[in-house]
Parts: sequence; C-alpha cells; structure tokens
Amino acid sequence: MQPDITAAVTRFKTIDDTGRIYNADKDLGWPGGGGPRFEVLHPVTGRPVSIPSTGWRFTEARLKEQIEAGLVEFGQDEKKIPRGKTFLEELDSQVAESVFTQIRTTASQRLARLVGPGVFDYPKDEYVLARWFDVVTGSDREALVMDFFAGSGSAAHAVMHLNSVDGGSRRFIMVQLDEETPEKSGAREAGFTQIGQIARERIRQVGLRLREEAGMTGDRLDIGFRTFRIDSSNMADVLRSPDDTDQLQLSELEHSVKPGRSGEDLLFEVLLGWGLDISTPIAVESVEGYEVLVMEDDVLIACFEDNVSPDLVRSLAKREPLRAVFRDFGFDSDDARINAEQIFKELSPSTDVKAV
Ligand SMILES: C[S@@+](CC[C@H](N)C(=O)[O-])C[C@H]1O[C@@H](n2cnc3c(N)ncnc32)[C@H](O)[C@@H]1O
Repeated sequence: MQPDITAAVTRFKTIDDTGRIYNADKDLGWPGGGGPRFEVLHPVTGRPVSIPSTGWRFTEARLKEQIEAGLVEFGQDEKKIPRGKTFLEELDSQVAESVFTQIRTTASQRLARLVGPGVFDYPKDEYVLARWFDVVTGSDREALVMDFFAGSGSAAHAVMHLNSVDGGSRRFIMVQLDEETPEKSGAREAGFTQIGQIARERIRQVGLRLREEAGMTGDRLDIGFRTFRIDSSNMADVLRSPDDTDQLQLSELEHSVKPGRSGEDLLFEVLLGWGLDISTPIAVESVEGYEVLVMEDDVLIACFEDNVSPDLVRSLAKREPLRAVFRDFGFDSDDARINAEQIFKELSPSTDVKAV
C-alpha cells in the first residue's frame, strides 16, 4: 500500500507546454460572492466562457495576464468554467520523498548511549521518525503524537528532537504494556524489569541532554512528562443490590474511595471526569497544615485529607479557584461538609465545589 502522503502528488497529472507538472485545481471565483463579471473568450471556440457564480476572483486585466502566462486552464469548450493551475514545483516543500535510507545500527548505538548497551534490540530510528512526524503534521508545531507500541520510546525521542530543532511544543502520549524484560537479558542486567522503564529512562536522559545542549536557554525547555498506570477507578463500588450486602460490606461502604489510593490518584480521576488537561502543572502546597494540590492558575484546588477544618476551607475559598475538590469523608460530619459549601458560597460563589 502506498503511504497516504503520496496522495498530495498523485493529483498532479498534467504537463504543460514548458514541461511543468500541474493540477488545475484553483477556483477562479471570488470567495463569498460579489466578484466582477466580465466576458472571457474561450481560446478555441472564441465564445464567452461560463462565469463563476460568485464572479471572477481577479480584475479583467489581472485575469488576462494570468491567461497569457499560461496559468489558467480552459475546458474543451466555453461551457466549463476555467480553473487556475497549481504547479507541483510550488509544493516541493510539502511533498515527502517516497524513499529514504538510514543505517539502522546508529539508532541502536544512540539508544545505548542513553540507557546502556544491549538494553533494547532494534529500536526505531528517532531521526527517521522525526522526519516522518514532521511531514505528517505539517506546520502544526503543537501536534500530539501517540504511539500505542512505545517500546523504548523512540517516538517520544523523535518528538523531543523535533521540538528542539524548531522550538515547537509538540506533545506525545506513549502507551506500553506492562511487559517484563526477559530474564538474563541486557535490560534485566541493567536493572530494567519492564519495557516501560527503558522508555522512561530514555525520555529523562534525552531531556537532560537537550537541556544541556541548549545552554543558557535550557531552563526554559519543557522536558517534563507524567507516567500513568491503568487501574480500576478509585471509587469504591458502592452500588450493590440489598441481597449481596452483608455486615462486612456495609462497613466497607463507609468510604467512597478505595483504600490505598493517594491524593494524586484521586486528583487525576477528577481531572479526567472534568475533562481537564492531565498535563497541566500541579503544585503541592501546605495550607493550614493540610496537603493541598493546586493546578496552575488555581484552575482547580484539591485537598483529600481527613478532618478538613473550616479554616482550611476559608483559606482555599479566598483564593477563588475555578474548582475545589474534597473527599466526601474528609469532613467530620455532614454538617462540616454543608458548612464548607456555605463558606464557598459566601467567599467565592463561582467556584464549582465537589466532594468525591
Ligand atoms: C517492537 S516494540 C516497539 C518498538 C519501538 N518503536 C521502539 O523504537 O522502541 C513493540 C511493543 O509493543 C508492545 N505491544 C505488543 N503488542 C501489544 C498490544 N496488543 N497492545 C499494546 N502493546 C503491545 C510490546 O510490549 C512491545 O514492547
């Protein structure tokens, strides 16, 4: 199968008298309507050609110039509206070469320098990937690249490389099964028990190197990334039929959050539920002696600790965050929870307050 990218060139099927390859795909109508209407004679039949319903895109003099320069293609007779030509050579920066070669061993060597020798066999070449991503994403320097078979993270490396070359802020999502590295492998010897660890180490090392290479401006480079593991929801399954609810389960129902889940676990589930960007920077602050998670610009403030005090609630409400989240069981009583809602209503009525 031909890669999609060739579709951009296959539409160029015609060659003009001077040997230039073109496609007559330019609409000569005035965008939106109201363009000038004047007669243009067909070069063969000598009769006036059909005028675009929106009028001509150019003045009479300008269109005449274009016709004389061979930039307009007429139909077989005057019934067809003429079209402007796009020449293949005008697009040369956007057309990918269909074949290019690169020696594979160099990619392995580069990876070895980042995570150690013999850790990952046959990684993809990050420079080939970078070239490919660049072609596919065109001028979008904020493109998001996703690789469901991340392996050693070559795709992430390629994205970081591209950004370092042109100052873009493309992002990546790497997905990797929790596949174990083979026992007695180079990876195991180097301390990697899972493939994903290799990718994470590589991304860290690439970031450090790019920062180093950038010198004085290195501090401004965003080389951070987050790792997530797929798990079941943090929320306990509290919906049960009366028949399968025994004494033990009733005591479990006291808490809506599964035991062993951290504040961060809860935060990210809340973010996903609200449709917020999980790559936004999050700071951990201590407020009135409680650990509070704060998203950039106070888009969201969360405290998942127990025994939340009215003083803490007041301090948070005064910051007028867009959203505030607590644990349902973080309040000592229903009264304390209702009181917290009241405090927000008074001090920051526009805050969306949620208890999970
Ligand atoms: C060949 S590696 C990818 C190499 C990567 N391009 C690189 O340069 O490092 C493919 C990875 O995809 C993962 N994989 C294989 N089957 C998968 C599946 N069905 N779902 C998700 N991941 C899978 C494997 O764990 C393996 O590590």
